[in-house]
Amino acid sequence: MKFSARNTGPLAALVTALGIFAGVSAAQAQQEIKIGYALAPTSHYGVAAEKWQEVVEANTDGRYSFRHFPSSGLGGEREVIEGLQIGTIEATIVSSGTLSNFVPETGVFDIPFLFRDLTHARNVLDGEIGQNILAKFDDVGLVALAWGEQGFRHITNNRNTIGKPDDVAGLKLRTMENPIHITAFETLGAAPTPMAWPEVISSLQQGTIDGQENPLSVITSAKLSEVQKYLTLSGHVYSPAMLLVSRQLWDGMSDEDRKAFEEGATEAVKAMRAYVDNVETSGVKQLKEEGMEIGELTAEQKAAFQQAVQPAYEKYYEQYDKALIDQIIATE
Ligand code: PAF
Repeated sequence: MKFSARNTGPLAALVTALGIFAGVSAAQAQQEIKIGYALAPTSHYGVAAEKWQEVVEANTDGRYSFRHFPSSGLGGEREVIEGLQIGTIEATIVSSGTLSNFVPETGVFDIPFLFRDLTHARNVLDGEIGQNILAKFDDVGLVALAWGEQGFRHITNNRNTIGKPDDVAGLKLRTMENPIHITAFETLGAAPTPMAWPEVISSLQQGTIDGQENPLSVITSAKLSEVQKYLTLSGHVYSPAMLLVSRQLWDGMSDEDRKAFEEGATEAVKAMRAYVDNVETSGVKQLKEEGMEIGELTAEQKAAFQQAVQPAYEKYYEQYDKALIDQIIATE
């Protein structure tokens, strides 16, 4: 018998009750994905997380609902990754800041002056070298789905303009908790101060550090122009990002749902890279308008920094195979 709006009486009541019950159980079956990231919803991370959600929701008939925790709402990046490991957080987008503490091989991409430009970096990350490193996250109870990106990192500070390595001497520069970056700035004679991101703005305001370094995507979206006077376009290192989910989430999913998360991650990376492409051209103008004093290292000045950081390479070669580094450099 076909049920229509005209049906009334006990049968209609039963069908209505069954409908409500089915609706409730469908809602209960919906799994919440807590996604944490360090920056604002309008940042490259926010844009990527939105896209990830959109694709997953569309491809799984809404069986997953994303709950966003932007602006370090679930803590610093290290804490969030640990949250994924113990299964209290389902997804994240993070920088490479603390990733080498989990999978040391990721640190190779943090070596200064390794990548020529964004295309070079993207080709390496999307190619065999990058994909092999993603697979290593399986060994530490994490599922790394894709490499994202932030752009090339530049130095901001409140002390002085920077044109030569001597200008960073003794500069209290916040770095990520990343041994490769710390070694680079120590070698340059700065005073690197590793610090989790949630403490950075207040430390800059209080003057306990002079500066920090991040790509234009972060400098603009975190409104660093409000707390920093000088920006030097140093492009000293490429800054990758990574999209990860918890092993618990992954193990509990069907192959079809896993595919939806993978496709979502691929689309999220496209959105993130488009954001970075845009901010790399529009960011400087915006920051100038916001009052920052901006200088760009000339090719010769950049070469002087590259020269000054050379002794750090000896340490990098102890940790990372020189053949791998050469292979990265040789990638088109
Ligand atoms: O500098 C950092 O710690 C990272 O680049 C940031 C801002 C948290 C984005 O991942």
